Amino acid sequence: MNDSKISRIGVLTSGGDAPGMNAAIRAVVKTAWSFGLDAYGITRGYSGMIDNDISKFDKRGVSNIIQRGGTILKTARSKEFQTPEGRKKAHDNLKKHNIDALVVIGGDGSFRGAQAFSNEFDIPCIGIPGTIDKDMAGTDSTIGFDTAVNTAVGAIDKIRDTMEAHERLFVVEVMGRDAGYIAINSGISTGAESILIPEKKADLIKLVNNLSQKEAKQKHVNLIVVTEGDEYGGAEGIKNYLKLTLPGADIKMCILGHIQRGGSPSAVDRLLATRMGYHAIKCLLEGKYNVMVGVINDKVKFTPLNEAVKAKQTISEEWLTIAETVS
Ligand code: F6P
Repeated sequence: MNDSKISRIGVLTSGGDAPGMNAAIRAVVKTAWSFGLDAYGITRGYSGMIDNDISKFDKRGVSNIIQRGGTILKTARSKEFQTPEGRKKAHDNLKKHNIDALVVIGGDGSFRGAQAFSNEFDIPCIGIPGTIDKDMAGTDSTIGFDTAVNTAVGAIDKIRDTMEAHERLFVVEVMGRDAGYIAINSGISTGAESILIPEKKADLIKLVNNLSQKEAKQKHVNLIVVTEGDEYGGAEGIKNYLKLTLPGADIKMCILGHIQRGGSPSAVDRLLATRMGYHAIKCLLEGKYNVMVGVINDKVKFTPLNEAVKAKQTISEEWLTIAETVS
């Protein structure tokens, strides 16, 4: 039953794609249908809203997508939507389709857009956090993070085989921009000697001392996992520094890059996406507007968009200590 004033919703994906976005789209659309709403897909995020690239989902529109990576709605980062003129065009296009609420699946940049839009126009927006970076407050995890970590772990395990065979030191760079969650989780899971993240200043002298001591004991196999946004310039910067300070060592580097964004979502991400998609529609129908859907300690939580875009999730001190202790 739908007693609210909402009868047509639009859904879009925005910013970097993340595995599980399709599962979220599916849950949003199927939940909307179950309450008698019409669901519209907006292609290429906010750019599609500005270009009127909007169409109604037909009955097969979200079939066979729960397992697919990427996003069937495509994604983009729109500069025009950052301007009031761009947002006005987008609003007028939504009105042409009589869309009265919007579900935005994306990261903090996408939510900043949703917040500006909902401040200016009477179209409620609900945010679903979809980013591999997990750099958002108001939720324990974001859609895509678990899959990205598993992809990084699988790749690093393979690198370890050649690292062991050749007795090499490997510096592996993972994504996350200026957030170290993928590095911490993949680094601990693969037994890295050292994990370098932007949130914590790295002690490179200590790192080199540790590595020298290990070299002296003939332990040539060492794995360092570094976040791309690390202050020393990611894997390239660390490799160059180590080459200078450990001239005898056989050092290789590998940048994992966009493989971390692709692939079939893990069950954890499919479940998270489905749960969030369902609650995005439920909360709209209950009149909770302009919030981000999160899950904290296995409970669904709603954070106002303006708070969600201000705060970043902090790196857990406990995991940092564990990482240091077991490396
Ligand atoms: O935000 C997700 C993310 O994959 C970051 O980890 C990375 O820094 C960035 O997007 C890369 O963006 P692009 O695909 O536009 O190069």
